[in-house]
Amino acid sequence: MKDLRLGIAGLGTVGCSVFQIVTKQVEMLNIRGGCNIQISAVSARDKNKDRNLDLNNVSWYSNAVEIAFDKNVDVVVELIGGTDGDAYNLVKNAILNKKHVVTANKALLSKHWAELLELANKNNVSLMFEAAVAGGIPIIKAIKEGLAANHFKAIYGILNGTCNYILSEMWKNGIDFETALAQAQEAGYAEADPSFDIDGIDAGHKLSILTALAFTGEAKFDNIRVEGLRSISALDIEYAKELDYRIKLLAIAKLTKDGVVQYISPCMIPKDCSLASIEGALNAVFIDGDAVGETVYIGAGAGGDATASAVIADIMDIARGNAYPENIYIEDCKYAAAETQEGRFYIRLTVKDVSGVMADVTAILRDCEVSLKSILQYGQSSSKSVPLVLTTHKTKECGIRKAIVALGALDTVLEEPCLLRIELI
Ligand code: HSE
Repeated sequence: MKDLRLGIAGLGTVGCSVFQIVTKQVEMLNIRGGCNIQISAVSARDKNKDRNLDLNNVSWYSNAVEIAFDKNVDVVVELIGGTDGDAYNLVKNAILNKKHVVTANKALLSKHWAELLELANKNNVSLMFEAAVAGGIPIIKAIKEGLAANHFKAIYGILNGTCNYILSEMWKNGIDFETALAQAQEAGYAEADPSFDIDGIDAGHKLSILTALAFTGEAKFDNIRVEGLRSISALDIEYAKELDYRIKLLAIAKLTKDGVVQYISPCMIPKDCSLASIEGALNAVFIDGDAVGETVYIGAGAGGDATASAVIADIMDIARGNAYPENIYIEDCKYAAAETQEGRFYIRLTVKDVSGVMADVTAILRDCEVSLKSILQYGQSSSKSVPLVLTTHKTKECGIRKAIVALGALDTVLEEPCLLRIELI
């Protein structure tokens, strides 16, 4: 059997799991991959940290980029993270030195998609990234291979485990967003600075990759309308229950007559649809293809071993010679702006409980050509402010955005309006 020598850059949670699983299961992997798989080089920031790994017989690099020039490395495994800097330099130089690359780095791919894929193609090596989207779920393989016969109509994903955990806790316990976020931080899901997750950036990077693959385009993060979780309150969860919905942060790519439209957005979805029951830190992806119809994939979206499972799947494809250049994906598909599309929406206003408010609200909606489906307003509160909840029929996104600005400017509307999409209906 021929050797396949790995250089692993980054020994954080995922890097350590890759090292441990490859070491422990090497016999099985060799049989399955038809190669003699070895870890020949590693790099991390702190050599002396106790990682419980046997690093004898493995070259150590304190500068990760040097792995790209090591003649004893056939596959560079990039697990450093970040859009530029060492991760970018390592991947680029590895490809230029004719090494295959496996990466879990969605931010890097989202920013440098065409450049890196074209470079890999030109150098006849593979750039593999199963671990970059939805952790252990083999969703890249599903789109590239299992569903290769399909034109895709839509992708809906729960791609951020931290957000799904927060929303699940809010749902189960009736707690507000801040309390659920603190719980997620305590449980180790959310970072000390959680903005990348809760503001939808992480999910946006992942969606840009899925869209680029499924709709054969550039990965364009800037084409995504990105909204995070911060506006969701315990009240919205209560109203979702009343309306028979669940709230989920969805990554959506839909093919419309104008092109592919993409959103990261907290959405109301029917409580009995497949994505509604995805709880905790799990991820899930729903794909609608013209031949296969609807398929759903569920699993761990993060965590050392689950992500390592995806990293090693890519290594196995390279071992078997199944990996191939991705040049076929670098055409440019047409993208459409969210504002040009139609959708259904949920609006929650906090209004003064005085006469005439409803007339003002409905006049704005009439002027913006927004047609209402339902209105909920209960009782009178002692504070003289009450929530007013409206749901719309299908309406132009530009109209609803205009209406929200006008509603927010009314004297009788006391807080920033909350606007959520209603999807999968
Ligand atoms: N922080 C991400 C999540 C995992 O919560 O899903 C890595 O992208």
